[in-house]
Amino acid sequence: MAQTLETIPNNVDLSSDRRLQRALEQWQPNFLQWWNEVGPDGFQSHQVYLRTAISVEANGWAHFDFVKMPEYRWGIFLEPRDGERKIGFGDVMGEPVWDEVPGEHRNALRRIIVTQADTEPASVEQQRQLGKTCPSMYDLRNLFQVNVEEGRHLWAMVYLLHRFFGRDGREEADELLQRRSGSSDKPRILNAFNEPIDDWLSFFMFTMFTDRDGKYQLAALAQSGFDPLARTTRFMLTEEAHHLFVGETGVDRIVQRCAELMAAGKDPAKEGAVPFVLIQKYINLWFTLSLDLFGGEVSSNAADFFAAGLKGRFREDTLDEHKAMGVNYRMEMPEGGKLVAQEVPLRNAMNEVLRDEYVKDCQRAVDRWNKTLVKAGVSGMTLRLPHRRFHRGVGPCAGLSFDPDGRMISEAEFKAHEGAWLPTAEDRIFVKSLMHPVTERGKMANWIAPPPKGINGMPIDFEYVKPPQA
Ligand SMILES: [Fe+2]
Ligand SMILES: [Fe+2]
Repeated sequence: MAQTLETIPNNVDLSSDRRLQRALEQWQPNFLQWWNEVGPDGFQSHQVYLRTAISVEANGWAHFDFVKMPEYRWGIFLEPRDGERKIGFGDVMGEPVWDEVPGEHRNALRRIIVTQADTEPASVEQQRQLGKTCPSMYDLRNLFQVNVEEGRHLWAMVYLLHRFFGRDGREEADELLQRRSGSSDKPRILNAFNEPIDDWLSFFMFTMFTDRDGKYQLAALAQSGFDPLARTTRFMLTEEAHHLFVGETGVDRIVQRCAELMAAGKDPAKEGAVPFVLIQKYINLWFTLSLDLFGGEVSSNAADFFAAGLKGRFREDTLDEHKAMGVNYRMEMPEGGKLVAQEVPLRNAMNEVLRDEYVKDCQRAVDRWNKTLVKAGVSGMTLRLPHRRFHRGVGPCAGLSFDPDGRMISEAEFKAHEGAWLPTAEDRIFVKSLMHPVTERGKMANWIAPPPKGINGMPIDFEYVKPPQA
C-alpha cells in the first residue's frame, strides 16, 4: 500500500490543492517502483541512520533516525515566500519576482528544470552497486544519505513540473522515471550522468567534482525571478553541502592513506591503497567531465537566461552591478590551430563566469589535499587541477588536443600521453580490485584513512547501517 500524501512532509500546503495532490499521488508509486528497481542494490531492507528533512527551520531539516530507504519520507520543501522579493539582475531587474511561470519563459524554464531534475535520479542509478563494496559502515551510510537526498531533489523538481507546467509538466515528470543512466535507448540528458560509478574512488570524485557543479547550478537558479524555483533550490543547497563534504573529505582520506604509506617508504599500490598518480588521473577525469556541465564558453542561451531574469550569477546579490551590459569578458579561444584572445560580451560568457567560481572552489579543495600530503610527511609532490582546456567534450576546445597545462598539442601527442594523464583500462581494473566490502563496526578498508569524527555526534564505530531483522 502506498503512503498517502499526508505522510509526505511538505510546506506547500499540498492538501489544499486536490488536483495537484491527485497528480502527485499517481506519480508516487512510480517513483517508489523506480527506487526499488534501480536504487541501492541489496540494501532496501537495511535500517540506515539517515537525516530526513521535516521542515525548513534550522532544527527541522536535520532529523536523524533509522529508516529503511524505501520508507524514507521524501518531502517537498521550499524556503518560505517573502512576498517582497524583487528580481535581482538582467533586463527585468527590480521587478517583483513571479509566483507563476510567465508565458514567454515557459519553455526555457521547463528546460532548465528538466535538465536539473534529470541529474538527480541519474546519480542514484549510477551509484546503485556501490554499497556492496563499501570501505566502512560510515561511508555506506553517507552513500545512502546522498542517494535518498538526490531522490528528494527529484521530488522537489517534480513538484515544480506538476504544479506549474500542467500536462507538459506531468509528462516530463513521467519521463524522468523512464530515462536510465547509461542506457543506449533512453539515456540521461547530460553526459557525466551516463558514466557508471562502480568504484568508490570514482564516487568520491563524483561527489567532489560533479555534485559541485550541481551546487553552482543551484546557486545560479537560487537567484531566479521564478520565485518557486529560487525557493526550492535554496533549500536543496543545504542538503547539497553534505554531498560535497562526502566527496571532498573522501578524497582527502584517500590522499592521507596514500601519503602515510609513502612517508613510511612503502608503495601504496603494493599495500592495497591508491597510488598518488592514480589519484591525479581520477582528478583529471572527473574535474574535466564536470567542467563540461557548465556548457559552452560562449552561449547565447546563457545570455538570454540572464537577460530574462531566469538564471543569475553565483551570489549575484553580493555583486556591485547586475546588468552585465557594456562589459567584455576576455578569454583565449582556439582558432585556426592556435589560441587567440577574444573579447566576449559578458552576458554571453555567463557559463564561463560560473565556471570560474567553480574552478576556484575546486582549487581550494586541492590545496587542502596538498596540506594533507605535507602533514603526513610527503614533500615535493602536489596534486593539481588540469587546465580547463584539457580533455573537454563541450565548447570550443572539444575535439582538439591540449595537455594538462592547457597547451595545444597534436592528436598524436595527446594519444601518446593519454595513459599518463587519464585512467586507463588497467587503472580501472586495479582500482576495482581494491574494493572489498568492510562492514565491521569502526573498521576501514586499507585504502582509506578513517574520518576524524562520526555523523551527528555519533562515534565513528557506531552501527550506521543495520541488516534486516530476521
Ligand atoms: Fe541533487
Ligand atoms: Fe548532490
